[in-house]
Amino acid sequence: ALRAGGLVAFPTETVYGLGASARHAAALPRIFEAMGRPADHPLILHLDNPRFVSRWVAGLPPQFEPLAKAFWPGPMTLVMNRSEEASDVLTGGQDTVAIRIPSHPMAQQLLTAFGGGIAAPSANKYGRVSPTRPEHVREELGDAVKLILDGGECTIGVESTILSLAGEKPRLLRPGSIGQSQIEAVIGPVEVGADAGAPRVPGSTAQHYSPATAVATVPSTLLESRIDTLLRDARRVAVLAQRPPRKAQQGVTWINAGRRLDAYQRDLYANLRSLDKAGADLILVEDVPTTPEWTAVRDRLARAAVNPR
Ligand code: TXA
Ligand code: MG
Repeated sequence: ALRAGGLVAFPTETVYGLGASARHAAALPRIFEAMGRPADHPLILHLDNPRFVSRWVAGLPPQFEPLAKAFWPGPMTLVMNRSEEASDVLTGGQDTVAIRIPSHPMAQQLLTAFGGGIAAPSANKYGRVSPTRPEHVREELGDAVKLILDGGECTIGVESTILSLAGEKPRLLRPGSIGQSQIEAVIGPVEVGADAGAPRVPGSTAQHYSPATAVATVPSTLLESRIDTLLRDARRVAVLAQRPPRKAQQGVTWINAGRRLDAYQRDLYANLRSLDKAGADLILVEDVPTTPEWTAVRDRLARAAVNPR
């Protein structure tokens, strides 16, 4: 399917991707069509081995080797200056290319069998919650994707950490399960967030990763009183919390996602999807810890909550 220019959804350790051959000129636009994604948004190039990276970039930056050694294969995407090999469709017309070596065995097998680079964003409609299970991909994209490789549930559950090595200093563009301190332990200080002349990172537009139901984050101590107020107005409420409810109430759908980061993060998008289907007027999310390990989760929740609908 890939060689013929078709789309294949496949599992990675972070989320499911919607893949097309990175060198097939007619294939890449099909990704944008299927997703309703603006055509100038760059895709991530997936390879099975770091030794192929040099073809796609204009010189390997000094931080490349130590980072690749520490974090690949794994949930880390590196943005570097591109070579001729990387097309405008792949890079959204920018002079940089984003590359990742996924560790998921099925992604690895697919890449090796195909024998080339696979361009893939997360396999969701533009602006929506990323899929972490094969059935989510079907839900999101329907018949637009013929082939979905079923690798079960993604173990990490949030998209890869994106680090740019294209500028003067390394810059963290998107938080992920590999945290800032882990990166700094390998290459020293990094800047954080998009800079003024920033490349486009769709995940960094304020509203992104959103369910259709409005989302609001609430401090734990205010959770019950917010629910009471909403119920008084005859509104139905869905709750994503880290503890059980203090009292049983009608009109409330409650998910206790627990306090363990890895499980909370792994189940985050699946939980938001379930709550989205609960027929509630609002999804209330109990604030998660403010510690650095929770940065990626906090980031995705904050984006889900920027929701004018
Ligand atoms: O975990 C992941 O990264 C997943 C799996 C499938 O690999 N992919 C993913 O792709 O999350 P997604 O939907 O976020 O889209 C690609 C991201 C966008 O945020 C895009 O802006 C960024 O990568 N990106 C791609 N090329 C870039 C570049 N040249 N400069 C800056 N950001 C870039
Ligand atoms: Mg995405």
